[in-house]
Amino acid sequence: MDYQEIIEEVYHELLQMPVKGKLADYIPELASVDPNQFGVCLVDKNGEEFQCGDSLQPFSIQSISKVHTLVLAYSQVGVDLWKRVNVEPSGNPFNNLAQLEYENGIPRNPFINSGALVTTDTVMSLYPNAKEEIKQFISNVSGEESIVVNENVKRSELACASRNYAVAHMLKSYGNLQREVDDLMEVYTDHCAIEMNCYQLAKSFLYLANHGHNIYTDTQILDRGLTKRINALMLTCGFYDEAGEFAFRVGLAGKSGVGGGVVAVLPGEFSIAVYSPPLNRKGNPRKALYFLEMLTTKLGISLF
Ligand code: DON
Repeated sequence: MDYQEIIEEVYHELLQMPVKGKLADYIPELASVDPNQFGVCLVDKNGEEFQCGDSLQPFSIQSISKVHTLVLAYSQVGVDLWKRVNVEPSGNPFNNLAQLEYENGIPRNPFINSGALVTTDTVMSLYPNAKEEIKQFISNVSGEESIVVNENVKRSELACASRNYAVAHMLKSYGNLQREVDDLMEVYTDHCAIEMNCYQLAKSFLYLANHGHNIYTDTQILDRGLTKRINALMLTCGFYDEAGEFAFRVGLAGKSGVGGGVVAVLPGEFSIAVYSPPLNRKGNPRKALYFLEMLTTKLGISLF
């Protein structure tokens, strides 16, 4: 299918939409990005790409990186991973601490911060140089030569990460953390501060739309069963306490980040990345959600 026309149609309709929402200023460096940036890239199952707007503008991928660390951990550890992190929607904000205490240090899912800290801890136990391994993995799945971290964003988050430190200490107090909190926070903020553009991000998720097969290296990243599970987690937990709303309005499996990015997949068809920095009250990129809702509505296709 030629997606270019429809992407441009939705893009131009949304350009008119007033820029409302809040930048992720709890990471001070992200408070200074241009809120008007707006980009889209869709890559279909054959690798054909369709782009519009600021699709080549790099941005902080933030929580989108949690999908990559989950895949790295799950593909090595298998079902044992679920002893340390659950697979249920949390119904709470991504940085919630209370639920972790109620539930004895077992995070609800791998995409809230507590769950992602556990998967990062797992990756660190598997690989002595976890930071490089994560970048290498993303580079491999996206067919991109190198993946870079924005050191300013990383430092900026580390300096204001009291809540994530609290979450990590809570995990430690329940015996659900193998590494030291400072070492873990270093690796976690490093992968959150990775910068990619929509084109690179859409490519990095294409194997999830392709039953686990990576067309860029012609290798199987995950088998079909594991791919199904990662996509199911994105559908049920990828947007935190707005996951139901995303499934209801958009009908794709996806993941957001407070840097303004959203990536979504329609298995068997395409992977798409949308970038628009202002966030709604749930911490998800407001215009990107509208874009995807309009796209699946106009195309008449979704998971359902
Ligand atoms: O830990 C944090 O708060 C950030 N590094 C990532 C949060 C995030 O992207 C939530 N997504 N919408």
